[in-house]
Amino acid sequence: MIPYGKHHIDEEDIQAVVSVLRGGALTQGPTIESFEQAIAHYVGARYAVAVSSGTAALHLAALAAGIGPGTKLVTSPITFIASANAGLYAGGDVVFADIDPQTVNMSPSCLEKVLKADPAIKVVVPVHFAGLPCDMPAIKSLADTAEAVIIEDAAHALGATYPDGHRVGSCINSLMTIFSFHPVKAIAAGEGGMITTNDENIYRKLLRLRSHGINKLNDEFQLAEQSSTNGELNAWYYEMQELGFHYRITDIQCALALSQFKKLDSFIEKRREIATRYDLAFRDKSINFKPAQLSGGSQSAHHLYVLRFDFDALGLSRNDCIKRLRGAGIVTQVHYLPVPMHPYYRNLGFNPLDYPNSVSYYQESLSIPMYFDLSNNQQNFVINELFKLQK
Ligand SMILES: Cc1ncc(COP(=O)(O)O)c(C=O)c1O
Repeated sequence: MIPYGKHHIDEEDIQAVVSVLRGGALTQGPTIESFEQAIAHYVGARYAVAVSSGTAALHLAALAAGIGPGTKLVTSPITFIASANAGLYAGGDVVFADIDPQTVNMSPSCLEKVLKADPAIKVVVPVHFAGLPCDMPAIKSLADTAEAVIIEDAAHALGATYPDGHRVGSCINSLMTIFSFHPVKAIAAGEGGMITTNDENIYRKLLRLRSHGINKLNDEFQLAEQSSTNGELNAWYYEMQELGFHYRITDIQCALALSQFKKLDSFIEKRREIATRYDLAFRDKSINFKPAQLSGGSQSAHHLYVLRFDFDALGLSRNDCIKRLRGAGIVTQVHYLPVPMHPYYRNLGFNPLDYPNSVSYYQESLSIPMYFDLSNNQQNFVINELFKLQK
């Protein structure tokens, strides 16, 4: 079977994990900081905080950005549910701004309407869908006008660059950026996530929230009589100063992620080659499917490759296509059921018809195989099987 996405593990990755197992610290050790520093340096951000998943990263980022009762977070309907759930976890509400059909990213003009209509929106969460960076300068200027801050969901976009050459994660136009290291993502930790920021107070808060709300980095102690004896700090002492979580990642996971990170450039390069070959194969206007994202190929991290079908013209349903491809040994997937369409969100009162671009994209989309180990022969096979659907 050719999957739609897959991680790539080599002997170096295995040895990196083994050496942590032989070394000493399994968790709360130095490999976590090494991984954080490597990512911060790579993306060009001052600080990075590694956590147990991309979802945990979103939750902590929403809290650190001030989401709570009476405030709202706005995100794209076309994303993994975690981007929206983060607002609810933090005790706030969620709203959606429809996508731009050309990019599948949050549309700045839809965002503008939503922000104007709802002053309770305090956080904007643009999602760099499939690795293609959103129009951040436009989103930043709208967020500034609305006095909202930005958390970029870059779960798909480690290795992507903005048109101005800065890397996604540099937080040039945002307060925070989050990443995920789930195995289908650019680099794998097993499970894992990261938040980058240039704001020291946010960094300190994220460190506390990651570990039970316990003070970190020489935060001032509040209980002077407990924290010191005869004016000298008690070495054993720590304080919980706010309600935090246990969202720590282990050194074992970070050893794998750090070893994977060393290959990130070659991973992205290969994904770019695959995307370019698909783009060339599918540029024929007479076929009933086309690439879903029509521009920005050189900036994208190419996490997914999504096609948009005219299933009516093809004379096949999406399910027929999925089954035929699966019969040939090719696994495809739909990214995503629009978040407001999920029963939980329907029950909160959302109506998918309010997001027509997202709904039509959803009905027409199918993600085809895109991963480092996809060979040219396998890719040719996938392309041929797709063309066979035309007959
Ligand atoms: C856009 C997006 N945001 C957030 C997440 C959550 O990441 P994780 O699975 O590491 O919790 C994902 C994961 O698939 C995602 O695709």
